[in-house]
Amino acid sequence: MSQPTPDAVLDALRAVQDPDLHKDIVSLGFVTKNEVKDGRVEVTINLTTPACPVKDLMKGQAEEAIRALPGVREVKVEMTAEVKGMNQPQPNMPKDIRHIVAISSGKGGVGKSTATVNLAVALAQTGAKVGVLDCDVYGPDIPMMMGIVGEPETVGKKLLPKVRHGVKTMSIGYLLSDDKPVIWRGPMVHKLIQQFLADVEWGALDYLLVDMPPGTGDAQLSLAQIVPLSGGVLVTTPQAVSTYDVSKAISMFRQVNVEILGIIENMAGFVIAGSVKGAAAGSEVEIETGAGTETLKVGEGGRFETVVHVFGEGGADSLAAKYDFPVLGRIPLNPVVRVGGDGGDPVIITDPDSLIAQEFRQVAGKLAQRLAVREFAQLPVLQ
Ligand SMILES: Nc1ncnc2c1ncn2[C@@H]1O[C@H](COP(=O)(O)OP(=O)(O)OP(=O)(O)O)[C@@H](O)[C@H]1O
Ligand SMILES: [Mg+2]
Repeated sequence: MSQPTPDAVLDALRAVQDPDLHKDIVSLGFVTKNEVKDGRVEVTINLTTPACPVKDLMKGQAEEAIRALPGVREVKVEMTAEVKGMNQPQPNMPKDIRHIVAISSGKGGVGKSTATVNLAVALAQTGAKVGVLDCDVYGPDIPMMMGIVGEPETVGKKLLPKVRHGVKTMSIGYLLSDDKPVIWRGPMVHKLIQQFLADVEWGALDYLLVDMPPGTGDAQLSLAQIVPLSGGVLVTTPQAVSTYDVSKAISMFRQVNVEILGIIENMAGFVIAGSVKGAAAGSEVEIETGAGTETLKVGEGGRFETVVHVFGEGGADSLAAKYDFPVLGRIPLNPVVRVGGDGGDPVIITDPDSLIAQEFRQVAGKLAQRLAVREFAQLPVLQ
């Protein structure tokens, strides 16, 4: 029986679009292997990030398109990924780090460090190579939140990052003793950040997330001046959304020409979860939220879960619309987040099926997508 030619397979694959880049995967050069033998088609699609949220969808579409060709007996589609990084000459960029992203906020205590560790682990779980740099010289929380103690080892003159949950980390907290207060002046912060980028053996990283100190002070400005950031992520709480602090953080990024990749609204309402003994999946339960009565359908084991928006919704949306960046996600308030943070195992590890963990994974996917789009926009346009 006849079988399709590799060209026919490629043609069929033109039906698969990358929804972010708005082009088909063949034109984008994503098809890196295309073999046909005895009616068996083997294709490899190399995406721009392992954290692509529509990876499975695209794989399914590719399989379907190939299977529809006459003479196909068997289809094998393998999805790989390669994060390329920004395509500009970047003198200060540590070799082999594709994207550096600052996680920032105007106000303290809104969840920057929490977001940093959970996003880092979420990205690492997709297979990406991820690092976290704790630049919060005033209160380095990454060691505690990642459950890491002790000083980093050195090789030659270089510090080795400490690794946990699949993420490489470096923090000023590893180098300072707990009880000695340190006063940081601007130039010291500048120097420290410089050293953490130059003198740490990061190796190859797809994403380096930088946990920033609160406010819009020296550390933020230093970082933006020392390294070419691929972008910044803002974290805010619903109450803080409309405050002066957030607009200050936004103008700071703009001042140093750093694109804001999006905003995360943290502590956006709280989760009410529970289970009704003996209730069949699909049956209904009524709960009193304080803002009224809500009727929910229960799942397996009678489980239910919902989010109560204490401060209302839409604050981050209006901010995002005003300044033209997306809302990457909303993370509800839930003690498991804090317990995970204090205990050194982020909620995405301790409770991977929870709404919050799902939301963090979605945010990680959106962030990776935004970076992939940025990479693409920087490619030279072929005439
Ligand atoms: N969604 C959440 N639900 C419950 N607790 C949370 C949530 N997000 C953060 N927290 C807790 O709130 C506290 C502050 O969060 P975090 O340390 O991440 O904020 P931050 O912006 O990094 O603060 P700082 O400005 O001091 O560095 C921590 O104890 C953290 O565990
Ligand atoms: Mg912090």
